[in-house]
Amino acid sequence: MNVLITGANRGIGLGFAKQYLAQGCDVWACHRSDPGELNEIENTRLHLLEWDVSQDQQPGFIVEACAIPKHLDLLINNAGIYGPKKEAGQSLETVSSQTMMEVFDVNCVSVLRVVQQLRESLIEARGVIANVSSKMGSSGDNTSGGSYAYRAAKAALVIVSKSMAMDLDEKGVRVITLHPGWVRTDMTDHSGLIDVEQAVSGMANVIAHVDDYGTGAFVAFDGQVVPY
Ligand SMILES: NC(=O)c1ccc[n+]([C@@H]2O[C@H](COP(=O)([O-])OP(=O)(O)OC[C@H]3O[C@@H](n4cnc5c(N)ncnc54)[C@H](OP(=O)(O)O)[C@@H]3O)[C@@H](O)[C@H]2O)c1
Repeated sequence: MNVLITGANRGIGLGFAKQYLAQGCDVWACHRSDPGELNEIENTRLHLLEWDVSQDQQPGFIVEACAIPKHLDLLINNAGIYGPKKEAGQSLETVSSQTMMEVFDVNCVSVLRVVQQLRESLIEARGVIANVSSKMGSSGDNTSGGSYAYRAAKAALVIVSKSMAMDLDEKGVRVITLHPGWVRTDMTDHSGLIDVEQAVSGMANVIAHVDDYGTGAFVAFDGQVVPY
C-alpha cells in the first residue's frame, strides 16, 4: 500500500509514518523544512519529500519532484498549525486578520492544494483521503468560544472535506475527516490526554473501516462520529 503524509517530521504525522511503515507500507513522508526524526528511521520503504503545503506549486510539481507512485492508496492531510498559542492572540478582542488568514491557509486551503496535486494517483488507486481536522472545528462541540482562527479553519476543513467526498465518490475515492483526540504533541505543549501512538492507531483503525462510516464522515480516533 502506498501512503503519503503531510507534516510527517514530528507529532501525529511522524506517528502515522511509523504506523504505516510498521504495517509494511511504502510511505512518502513530507516535511516542510527540517526532516527531524525522519532522518533516524532506517527503512527502504520510507521516502522523504520536502513539501511546504502553504506554497502554490505548478501542476505536476510533485510528480517531477520525486517518484510519486501512480497509485496512491492513502493520503493523510495532517500538516497543521494552531496559530498564536495564548488565548490573547486568538480572542475576540485581539485576533488579527493576518492570523485568521495564515491559520486558514495552512489548515484548510493547503489540503486543496495537496489533493489537486495528487488527485490522479488517488483516483487510479480508488484510494482514501484522510483530512485531519479537530473537534475544535465542531460547532456542536464549541462551548468555550475563543480560538477564532483555529476553530474557523478546522470547521472550514470539514466542509471542504465533505465536498471532496461528494466530488470524488463517483471516481471511487473515499474521504474521511478525523479528530485525533487531545494529543500530547508540540501543538498542545504536550498537555493532551492521550499519546501519539494511541491517537494514530485509533485513526488508522477508523481509516481501515472508512466504508463503515460512509464517505465524508467526521470521526474521532475512538471511532465516535463527531457532530458538527
Ligand atoms: N495535538 C492535538 O491534540 C490535536 C488535536 C486536534 C487536531 N490536531 C491536528 O493534528 C495535526 C497534527 O498536529 P500535531 O499535534 O502533530 O502538531 P505539531 O506537533 O505542531 O506538528 C505539526 C506538523 O505540521 C507541519 N506543518 C506546519 N505547517 C506546515 C506547512 N506549511 N507545510 C508542511 N508541513 C507543515 C509541521 O512541520 P514543521 O515541523 O516544519 O513546523 C509539523 O510536522 C494538525 O493538523 C492539528 O491541527 C491535533
